[in-house]
Amino acid sequence: MINPVDPSLVPQRTLYDGTKIPAIGMGTFGSDKYTSDEISSAVAGAIRGGYRLFDCASVYQNEEQIGLVFKDAFDKGIVKREELTITTKVWNDMHAKRDVLLSLAKSLRDLQLDYIDIFFVHWPFRNYHAPGVDKDARDPNSRPFNVDEFMETWRACERIVDMGLAKHIGMSNMTIPKLEAVLPLCRIQPAAIEMELHPSFQQPELFDYCMERNIMPIGYSPIGSPSRPERDRTSDDVVDIEMPEIVEIAKAHNVHPALICLKWAVQRGQIPIPFSVKEKNYMSNLRCITEDPLTDEEMEMIRKADKNCRLIKGHVFLWEGAKDWRDLWDLDGTITK
Ligand SMILES: NC(=O)c1ccc[n+]([C@@H]2O[C@H](COP(=O)([O-])OP(=O)(O)OC[C@H]3O[C@@H](n4cnc5c(N)ncnc54)[C@H](OP(=O)(O)O)[C@@H]3O)[C@@H](O)[C@H]2O)c1
Repeated sequence: MINPVDPSLVPQRTLYDGTKIPAIGMGTFGSDKYTSDEISSAVAGAIRGGYRLFDCASVYQNEEQIGLVFKDAFDKGIVKREELTITTKVWNDMHAKRDVLLSLAKSLRDLQLDYIDIFFVHWPFRNYHAPGVDKDARDPNSRPFNVDEFMETWRACERIVDMGLAKHIGMSNMTIPKLEAVLPLCRIQPAAIEMELHPSFQQPELFDYCMERNIMPIGYSPIGSPSRPERDRTSDDVVDIEMPEIVEIAKAHNVHPALICLKWAVQRGQIPIPFSVKEKNYMSNLRCITEDPLTDEEMEMIRKADKNCRLIKGHVFLWEGAKDWRDLWDLDGTITK
């Protein structure tokens, strides 16, 4: 049924050590809306359809089902392990030295893999929340970012590279002040940083900061996460696929506005990881970056349309005494304590 995209037509990005990875991947977070079976079926379809990069995480609670799909694809010779780029992430309650290795070991077992391509620290905060809690939930043990604690986690990630269990390591949900504090201390640099990136939230300073240091920006919620959980919605949020500039450009290309978000992302240089369990959607997401690029004028129109509108605010990670979610993002240029 799938009309596949030839993976050799998908542009590649080069990591700091020369490793090539695809310029687009598939997300696997179901936003508390889609089941593990729906998501793993989509991963199976996506492999057949030509996707070669999958963004996983222990907290998405679906690695076991996705692992069955990877094993099946390898056993049937649909794809070879080395042709896939597979990421996973350590969750906030597993940051202590020993726990990082335990988290990786569980992800490897669930995903049925010998190694991970990029192992991320999912958030730079240590805390615990039950999956699916609402935005007012707080962990009484939450604390602000702490360089020593973060570096304990990062040292464990570095050891995982030494052990050959991850090819690369990465960070996620970082800010420039936090990176300034930790990058000089890293023995192994982050190959990539996951960050929220879509037309209404372009994070130009953080994007440039990473590009200048050969750290690949991986853009999550690239379509503006229209199905995100209620806890991540506020009345001020911009809807990317309804932005007049995006709608106008979509009309000119005769495609859904979601595809304009993805073309923009790839042409700008970040790696978008859109999510969908719907074959029509995930296949058009992959295909769109292989054809009919945006013009320089359209790219410029989108650049100017940035609204600095963060959608995934991270309320639940706040610690006692913090003012509001902005404290997580160091908006005054220093690490908020
Ligand atoms: N590192 C982190 O902290 C972090 C945070 C958030 C997300 N992520 C990663 O980023 C991935 C993507 O982010 P996301 O899921 O929040 O947002 P997203 O990819 O921006 O949005 C996903 C939604 O967009 C819709 N969609 C996808 N393709 C479409 C198309 N061609 N036409 C119309 N609608 C389309 C889908 O709607 P339907 O539901 O109708 O199919 C889907 O639910 C996640 O799955 C996860 O892997 C990482």
